[in-house]
Amino acid sequence: MCGIIGYSGRSDATGRVIDGLYSLEYRGYDSAGIAAFVGGEVKTVKSEGRVARVCEMIKNFGGIKSNCAMGHTRWATHGAPSDVNSHPHICGKTVLVHNGIIENYAELAAELDAKADLLSQTDTEVAALTIDRSYFECGDPIKAIAEASKKLAGSYAFGIMFADLPGSIFGAKKDSPLIIGISDDGNFIASDITAVLKYTKKYIALSDGEMCRISADGYEIFDALGAPIKKEICTATWNAEAAERGGYDHFMYKEIAEEPTAIKKTLAPRVKGGAVAFADDGIDDIMLSEMKKLTVVACGTARHAGLIAKYYFERLCRVPVCVDIASEFRYRDPIIDADDTLMIISQSGETADSLAALRLARERGAKTVALVNVIGSTIAREADTVIYTHAGPEIAVASTKAYTVQAATLLAFALRTAYAKRTISFEELKRCTSVLTSELPKATESVIGRSAELYEAARKYFSADDIFYIGRGADGYIADEASLKLKEISYIHSEAYAAGELKHGTLSLITPKTPTVALATRRSLFEKMMSNIREIASRGGKVFAVCADDFPCGDAVEARFDLPACDEMIMPIVAATACQILAYHIAILRGCDVDKPRNLAKSVTVE
Ligand code: G6P
Repeated sequence: MCGIIGYSGRSDATGRVIDGLYSLEYRGYDSAGIAAFVGGEVKTVKSEGRVARVCEMIKNFGGIKSNCAMGHTRWATHGAPSDVNSHPHICGKTVLVHNGIIENYAELAAELDAKADLLSQTDTEVAALTIDRSYFECGDPIKAIAEASKKLAGSYAFGIMFADLPGSIFGAKKDSPLIIGISDDGNFIASDITAVLKYTKKYIALSDGEMCRISADGYEIFDALGAPIKKEICTATWNAEAAERGGYDHFMYKEIAEEPTAIKKTLAPRVKGGAVAFADDGIDDIMLSEMKKLTVVACGTARHAGLIAKYYFERLCRVPVCVDIASEFRYRDPIIDADDTLMIISQSGETADSLAALRLARERGAKTVALVNVIGSTIAREADTVIYTHAGPEIAVASTKAYTVQAATLLAFALRTAYAKRTISFEELKRCTSVLTSELPKATESVIGRSAELYEAARKYFSADDIFYIGRGADGYIADEASLKLKEISYIHSEAYAAGELKHGTLSLITPKTPTVALATRRSLFEKMMSNIREIASRGGKVFAVCADDFPCGDAVEARFDLPACDEMIMPIVAATACQILAYHIAILRGCDVDKPRNLAKSVTVE
């Protein structure tokens, strides 16, 4: 959803901004641009296309020598990706980069009688004009930003330069993330810490309504009224290498390969006396034992992790779980009150719809728990309680390690809840904890080590136009995610079905050219899965089974991938990794840009 970065200091600002933009490309990559103070004047370079294109243009100019610059990588919302719609936007003395959406831009443009002044179709240019008019009136940058902010409806993280204030970059935020990065040779503003990790681990996360000014000499933070405030400096636990590709061809594959370690890192600190516990996260057994219902709200892959939570919670704890799509949640006046527990699942902790759902639940008095990967993110800060996953930075747009780690953590959470409610014994909790912390990473590792087998399967199916996924119970929920992964990165149309549902209409779409991936990890459901596979095979459909090694499918399937022998409880999560690798190979064979699929962005900070 657009990434912004700015640097003012004693070193090469252009290089730092370009570096930062490359690491922010996961937020959007349809156009990019930078603005830099060069000899007291603002110079801008911007273009449709990726950061590399802007980089090339800068090289062609012979480089931009500057100690104060800011940049933007865009995911278009208002106005198509084009040179003119790229950021920075300049109005009078104001130079602006923006992440978010100004919802009342049309009204504001009319009010400002701005038509003649606007060059682009963007909402951002109207924001730049609003700030510039305020600056023209009051001549004070912070006052101008504060005044303009009052008029803007919607979300924003701004990076702002004023042409007559060389060396300074201003920031402001509401509902979109913005941090200040503090380094020895200068200061940054950025959409997130990964953009500056190469230069510093010290950062301050701004809250809604706050503004800042950075320069080579320091930084200042202001509240919404423009009064100076002090905030705590945090230290990032991620290192720069964690956000780099290492020796891998793609971030996506690197992140899949990191799953075993990420699972261990997330669960190990929560094991006390051989049993997983969440008391250190602020969730004790009394709270868990009192939980009567759980509402899970999330988007995309995180919602699919929520479905896994539903399976495990209902089975292990007999607690009903309702899983909701965040963008729908608040518009249907959800039934939620002080007796309820609401869990938000979000890798980034910044997804606008999930954040809005969290705020609504808090307004209604519900207890809120966030399952989040990015430390200090908005959702993490606003929830009553936060359970952090320690998956490390996830850069590829298609989520992989974040999902498997969420699924493992949710299973651990369900197990502890089951113990708190005494639906399982302490001995059973200890046994399951060992399965989760030891067997699961090993089994996942084993699947990753057999990537070549999944590549062979991918060669069979990569030219299909449609691929179905089926499964029963937990496998049905894994099928949802497996199908999404394939669609996102390979652009093959795909649908996931609860296996028994296929014959209620969709079987009509099965032809010899429409392969189906059948997930079969539940032994009690083997027979039923076999019936469903036969229904497909007898209509000429080819089936690829991702299954337990004792799944008796004979020659009803065209090929199979046997999951490593492990406890049935974790097998769906292991199957998810196999499906991620399958989707990856299929996308590569189709020549797709797996890390940056078309039209998508990783951090969706607009509703
Ligand atoms: C975007 C990403 C998905 C992700 C979803 C939720 O749509 O492309 O991969 O699952 O946002 O993101 P979150 O950060 O809240 O988990």
